[in-house]
Amino acid sequence: MGNEMSIIEAKFEAQKLAFAPIYFQVIVCLKELGILQLITKNKRGIQLSTISQELEISDYGVGVLLEAAASIGLVEYIDKNSVKLTKLGFVINSDEMTRVNINFVNDVCFEGVKYLKECIQNEKPEGLKVLGEWDTIYEGLSKLPEKIKKSWFEFDHYYSDDVFPEALKIVFKEKPNYLFDIGGNTGKWALQCCGFDPDVRVKILDLPGQLEIARSNVRSKNLENRIDFHQIDLLDEFQKIPQGADAIWMSQFLDCFSIDEIFTILKNVHQAVDQNAFIYILEPFIDNQKFEAASYSLIATSIYFTTIANGNSKMYSIDVMRDLVEKAGFEVVEEFELIGDSFHTILKCKKTS
Ligand SMILES: C[S@@+](CC[C@H](N)C(=O)[O-])C[C@H]1O[C@@H](n2cnc3c(N)ncnc32)[C@H](O)[C@@H]1O
Repeated sequence: MGNEMSIIEAKFEAQKLAFAPIYFQVIVCLKELGILQLITKNKRGIQLSTISQELEISDYGVGVLLEAAASIGLVEYIDKNSVKLTKLGFVINSDEMTRVNINFVNDVCFEGVKYLKECIQNEKPEGLKVLGEWDTIYEGLSKLPEKIKKSWFEFDHYYSDDVFPEALKIVFKEKPNYLFDIGGNTGKWALQCCGFDPDVRVKILDLPGQLEIARSNVRSKNLENRIDFHQIDLLDEFQKIPQGADAIWMSQFLDCFSIDEIFTILKNVHQAVDQNAFIYILEPFIDNQKFEAASYSLIATSIYFTTIANGNSKMYSIDVMRDLVEKAGFEVVEEFELIGDSFHTILKCKKTS
């Protein structure tokens, strides 16, 4: 579209944006009330009155929601009284990535993003107050209400889990003995490392709340003898990453920080390792995606960082990260683009100076 758009088309696109939050809530509602699932089950179509009866929702409720659903192309009317699912409706109902994104936007972001202007003006995540009184979301992750926590973790894990099998092969080519997982979160990667290589030891570095969850996951797998923990706040430059790692893994971690903070963290990594160690940075970069939908989602995710997470970070382009890595005294020795069927790239780095 772009430049070829007529003014009429542009006006329609503008109204789609103007009403996007309302239509978004229509989608959430259709899912939560089970309407979309019921329509999906009835492949040839279903009468509105049947939906009302089966789900015990008023005719008015079903009518108003389905009119909106048809307006954004989730369903189409077969006749005045019945509808069937469209391809878009199918994706909204059944696609896992869409489910994870909708829940994340609705539970974690929706209310807070109203404070976007204040966030930009004050350079603080002013929307976070709707979830709790913390400086960054990471302080509060383990204390979030269950539904919100689930949506946050599902969003985070959805994007890293698929990548791990391929990433393990890349990292373990170098046979690390002691791997530090910085921002190791619930310990998912650390546990997979231990499953992949019977000899490796892992140290998880994170904030106290996340370490508690990781500890309990490690305990339940009886891996306390191979996985240890180090509580650290990497925003405090006086807290040093300990020495001893021959591999450092940072997965979807550096995007939680501003450019200056990333530089400070990379310098902290620099003081901790020698020239034989490999540093692995796994990130979904906005500018090397296969699908438009991926860049679109990542760019929107930056606004979550602005309003909810910390007020100063974003999803980065690969050049920005390469530059920071080099300025901090590393070289990128190899790049693994879009490993697996994913959105991610691994930058494999080594100390140069
Ligand atoms: C987006 S999650 C990524 C988790 C995991 N590595 C993955 O790929 O799924 C970022 C992690 O960084 C941790 N983190 C954020 N700020 C931190 C800080 N200042 N110091 C240490 N860890 C921090 C968070 O607690 C969280 O576990």
